[in-house]
Amino acid sequence: MEISIKPNPACASQEARNQILAAPGFGKFFTDHMVSATWSQGRGWHDAQVMPYGPIAMDPASAVLHYAQEIFEGLKAYRHADGSVWSFRPQANALRFNRSAARLAMPEVPEALFLDSIRELVKIDAAWVPGGGENSMYLRPFMFASEAFLGVRPANEYKFMVIASPVGAYFSGGVKPVKIWLSSNYARAAFGGTGAAKCGGNYAAGLLAQMEASERGCEQVCFVDATEHKWIEELGGMNLYFVFKDGTLVTPPTKGTILEGITRGSLLALAGEQGLKPVERAISVDEWRSGVSSGAITEVFACGTAAVITPVGKLVWEGGSVGDEKMGEITLRLRNALLDIQYGRAPDKHGWMSKLC
Ligand code: PLP
Ligand code: COI
Repeated sequence: MEISIKPNPACASQEARNQILAAPGFGKFFTDHMVSATWSQGRGWHDAQVMPYGPIAMDPASAVLHYAQEIFEGLKAYRHADGSVWSFRPQANALRFNRSAARLAMPEVPEALFLDSIRELVKIDAAWVPGGGENSMYLRPFMFASEAFLGVRPANEYKFMVIASPVGAYFSGGVKPVKIWLSSNYARAAFGGTGAAKCGGNYAAGLLAQMEASERGCEQVCFVDATEHKWIEELGGMNLYFVFKDGTLVTPPTKGTILEGITRGSLLALAGEQGLKPVERAISVDEWRSGVSSGAITEVFACGTAAVITPVGKLVWEGGSVGDEKMGEITLRLRNALLDIQYGRAPDKHGWMSKLC
């Protein structure tokens, strides 16, 4: 499908943009343009356009505002040393987006529309892709039910949009070990639920637990399974990995209740190259506690697009904690291996990088 281009007649000045790019933070500033396309019953996808970034008019009865029929994705555009801009495994995001769409009874977005939207937005707003350090441009494709109707059924009109935000580190302290709060009151997902979908409702449901975490001085919350309350699932916005003394790299299995992270999947592929043995298996809270205490688990880290790879310092629960504030050596090695590919400093052996402009 053709994406029409309507340039913004009032782009930010170079001075204003440079000021933002000097200290972007995470998800606070947005570029001059966005992408919007509409799907309606009978017509399918139409009116795809790159247009000036700005508020969208919505009917107060729009289904998304009532029944939360909404999904999103997150990926980044990286500036390489030669000035070119690349994305990391965007097809994987397109595929996951459509798995989320299927779960939320929404129409699929053709892969070409998903990928072309990203490319056109990054091309027109290329000046917003920061260079240097670990800065990048975070891309947020999303889709929501825009039909004005209060009956409970899948909507017959949707908007697909992409916005872009120049970003630095997700955690304000930069790369340093984070503290994780073990949630015992709230579950994120159950079998048959939406845990594997990237839908806004999952994040809304996790906010109270995230608030508990913040109150305890923790940056993120760790959820356990909703049945036995003993198996580690994932964090509010990241997957988890455990480094064992014997060289195994363990991550909880994806069985419909956790998000199949693209960073998680990439590390399964990279681990072998780093002399580690990747294993997807269930790991309990007890094993986390006892493994760290005994030294069987030497490092724990979180991974995701926004957080890249972030060392986990401590696991904190009501009445106790385990772990220290050290930066693990293997965590940092994996982190650098991944960033070197993303920033074009290492050969792209897996064919993960796509040039955008
Ligand atoms: N788990 C959750 C709940 C997330 O929100 C994210 C972030 O996207 C991840 C895991 C990591 O996924 P990815 O590596 O694809 O960014
Ligand atoms: C991402 O890593 O892309 C996410 O969506 C996670 C969120 C915490 C920003």
